Amino acid sequence: MMKVILITGGCGFVGSNLAVLLKTKYPSYSITAFDNLKRRGSETNITRLQKAGIDFIHGDVRNKEDFGQIGKIDLLIETSAEPSVLAGINSSLDYLINTNLNGTINCLNFAAKYKADFIFLSTSRVYPIKQLENICFTESETRFDITQNQCIPGVSGLGISESFPLHGARSFYGATKLASELLISEFNEMQGMNTVINRCGVITGPFQMGKIDQGVVVLWVARHFWKKDKYVTFFIFTTYSD
Ligand SMILES: NC(=O)c1ccc[n+]([C@@H]2O[C@H](COP(=O)([O-])OP(=O)(O)OC[C@H]3O[C@@H](n4cnc5c(N)ncnc54)[C@H](O)[C@@H]3O)[C@@H](O)[C@H]2O)c1
Repeated sequence: MMKVILITGGCGFVGSNLAVLLKTKYPSYSITAFDNLKRRGSETNITRLQKAGIDFIHGDVRNKEDFGQIGKIDLLIETSAEPSVLAGINSSLDYLINTNLNGTINCLNFAAKYKADFIFLSTSRVYPIKQLENICFTESETRFDITQNQCIPGVSGLGISESFPLHGARSFYGATKLASELLISEFNEMQGMNTVINRCGVITGPFQMGKIDQGVVVLWVARHFWKKDKYVTFFIFTTYSD
């Protein structure tokens, strides 16, 4: 069956890879990438997307009017974001909240208009920082392992589950994502919208634009490859579903 999919943030790392993967797997689907090209380098994905048969619309999730360029959809995958965990700490919160929260609301309203399904790229950063610091680890030869016995619910050798406590500060970025998650649950319950919330950990792969505050694995590998002398330290938290 023909499906019409809108991917907001579709020129970003996750959005563009999802778009190409879905189009390759389901050639009959109509897929549109919607992006304001805020992320430096995201514009380089336009040609790649178009070559794969994916339409591009220059639009901003902060502006409801920009959704007027799009027709009926069956599925909206919301991958647009200010994805930096440092956003708002020494800078204005405006872009973060207007994109990550108000933008998600605009996406939800647009999906609701067509009774479309909704997939949201959330983050492991919804889990509070101090709670994460209380997880017990043992240091093995190549990694830190989560110990079997923990005093916090939702932690095991498999990682962190949705039953991990949510009280405490988590970064402005994480707060916008958690607030979006709460609203998505309301659309799911009150409007019968089919929704998926995916709390991603640190993800990486081809076509990621590496920066210290987002895309750190690529940045770390690139610095190593080009023999740069600065070190980047990073931690990976994994999540899984119960
Ligand atoms: N990459 C990771 O490690 C990671 C981890 C956890 C969660 N996430 C989440 O996954 C999603 C995708 O992340 P990513 O790594 O692809 O980031 P990315 O920065 O590569 O992609 C985000 C895209 O959104 C676009 N965008 C930003 N503001 C916009 C706006 N107002 N309107 C329209 N488009 C806008 C950007 O131009 C960019 O192309 C985000 O929601 C992010 O928070 C990513």
